[in-house]
Amino acid sequence: MLKVENVKKSFGAATVLDGVNLTVNPGEVVSILGSSGSGKSTLIRCINGLEKLDGGRITVDEFDVAKPKELAEARKRSGTVFQLFNLYPHMTALQNVALAPVEVLKRPRAEVEAESRALLTSVGLGDRADAYPSQLSGGQRQRVGICRALAMKPRYLLLDEVTSALDPEMTAEVLAILAKLAGSGTTMVFVTHEIEFARQISNRIVFLEKGKLIVDLPTEQFFDSQGGLAQPRVAQFLSKMRKD
Ligand SMILES: Nc1ncnc2c1ncn2[C@@H]1O[C@H](COP(=O)(O)OP(=O)(O)OP(=O)(O)O)[C@@H](O)[C@H]1O
Ligand SMILES: [Mg+2]
Repeated sequence: MLKVENVKKSFGAATVLDGVNLTVNPGEVVSILGSSGSGKSTLIRCINGLEKLDGGRITVDEFDVAKPKELAEARKRSGTVFQLFNLYPHMTALQNVALAPVEVLKRPRAEVEAESRALLTSVGLGDRADAYPSQLSGGQRQRVGICRALAMKPRYLLLDEVTSALDPEMTAEVLAILAKLAGSGTTMVFVTHEIEFARQISNRIVFLEKGKLIVDLPTEQFFDSQGGLAQPRVAQFLSKMRKD
């Protein structure tokens, strides 16, 4: 399982994560909601070992991201897709997807390329494998980004607002892929502002408020007036998101 225990993180005088606890079990889809600046991306970056923790502990299947000798194993288990497209511009879609399995896992190129093509086909990009990122739409690029993470066969897929830079049509394309992954049992940690979509695909929803995880409930209870909605901040957040 993926375990975040009492994690603290500050930037200068600003406390961004203030004792966060979160457990994600294999097969679960957990969405992280919260206002802009509440610490969602920082939490994802901490899980990746991209930020040094100021307190607490994060383990991915027992591998501690703060221990240099364990970080590589932890990272192999968690694949991340970020808010902004971060494909290598000088590589084709296929080369972007195949890169890490060949370079990091040292797997045979031919085998990896065949798998990468199959992944691209599964997201509707079978005929765009040889295109460069600049020749792809935003939605297509983000689908390549998802394939790139999946190519490493991660046990946990972390998604940080993967649709926030996309128009509604492209957003729908990408969400359809994510719904398929969630339905097929992929373990996902999903940072999003797509409330209705989160509601459809998640087993659990957690709410971050100023670096504190103030709600962690099964999806149905999160949207219940006796559950998550009983928290004024959650009710306020949801009503604002629905108006926007
Ligand atoms: N490297 C950094 N140096 C200083 N402050 C940072 C750094 N990264 C994040 N912060 C601050 O930490 C806070 C949390 O940022 P974070 O990116 O985690 O928020 P978020 O919940 O992902 O917001 P959004 O919904 O806008 O993506 C913000 O106030 C941000 O300005
Ligand atoms: Mg963010």
